[in-house]
Amino acid sequence: MTTRPSTSAPGHAGWLASNQAMWDARVPLHTTSNWYDLEGFRHGGLALDDLERAGVGEVQGRSLLHLQCHFGLGTLSWSRLGADATGVDFSAEAISQARALANELELRAHFEQAEVSSCRLGRTFDICFTSWGVLMWLPDLAAWARTIAAHLRPGGEFFLAEGHPHLFIWDDERDGAGYLPRHPYFRHREPVTDLEASTYVDTSHQIGHPQYRWNHPISEVVTALANAGLRITDFAEHPRLPWQPLSWMVPDQRPGWWRIDQDPFPLSFTLKAVKENRP
Ligand SMILES: C[S@@+](CC[C@H](N)C(=O)[O-])C[C@H]1O[C@@H](n2cnc3c(N)ncnc32)[C@H](O)[C@@H]1O
Repeated sequence: MTTRPSTSAPGHAGWLASNQAMWDARVPLHTTSNWYDLEGFRHGGLALDDLERAGVGEVQGRSLLHLQCHFGLGTLSWSRLGADATGVDFSAEAISQARALANELELRAHFEQAEVSSCRLGRTFDICFTSWGVLMWLPDLAAWARTIAAHLRPGGEFFLAEGHPHLFIWDDERDGAGYLPRHPYFRHREPVTDLEASTYVDTSHQIGHPQYRWNHPISEVVTALANAGLRITDFAEHPRLPWQPLSWMVPDQRPGWWRIDQDPFPLSFTLKAVKENRP
């Protein structure tokens, strides 16, 4: 992947519009991919892993907001488990596919097209959920955290599962030759630009759009949530990840998960928080 730090910055609106076009273009590749296994989902499967299920807990009869829901498989899985689920994503293509799928499978879920940092649905939920490959698309975690707080009732719970930020600093083209830092760990205003975005479901396929991304250190995630009025109740780091962002990662013993051979690096983290009962 050809990568460079952004120099000719179009600004937040331009970066987000470009990312939105890139995600729209990814949707048809994803709905037909083995990675997302739509057929398995049509036959009653759940598109949630053990960390997500254990982290969120029982959802029967509870209202749940899924941020950055992509084309809806996770949201519809929570619906299958009994939640009153709503999914939000800024990709019109993804939301259109999610609605069509809900209709086809007669699953009760709502989908809204919205940019996550400015989204206000005008209601609150028992649970807010978001996972895997979400934070890197957001320039401003303070605004993201305010969206979470705005949609949780007092005492409502937030759950996040995400790739560990140290992961995004390494060179992904060294193919086992060792670790070489290439991207920033600490907060950076200018995004890292990938001139030729591909997709994790098929890395040989060029999407035809650049992508803009930001790394967010753990301290930024925690501070954004705390400042928005959320109290962190659980935080864990894990040595595995459900995709392969670096060519030198190896398959984990659990199918569909990846790790770094022998090295005890954290590759992902999960976090739970509760909305404080502030006046
Ligand atoms: C990797 S996917 C979500 C992951 C989900 N775990 C999955 O695999 O289906 C990231 C999603 O974030 C959405 N997204 C990216 N930036 C966004 C933004 N600023 N506002 C709302 N959605 C955004 C994309 O459209 C995409 O559907």
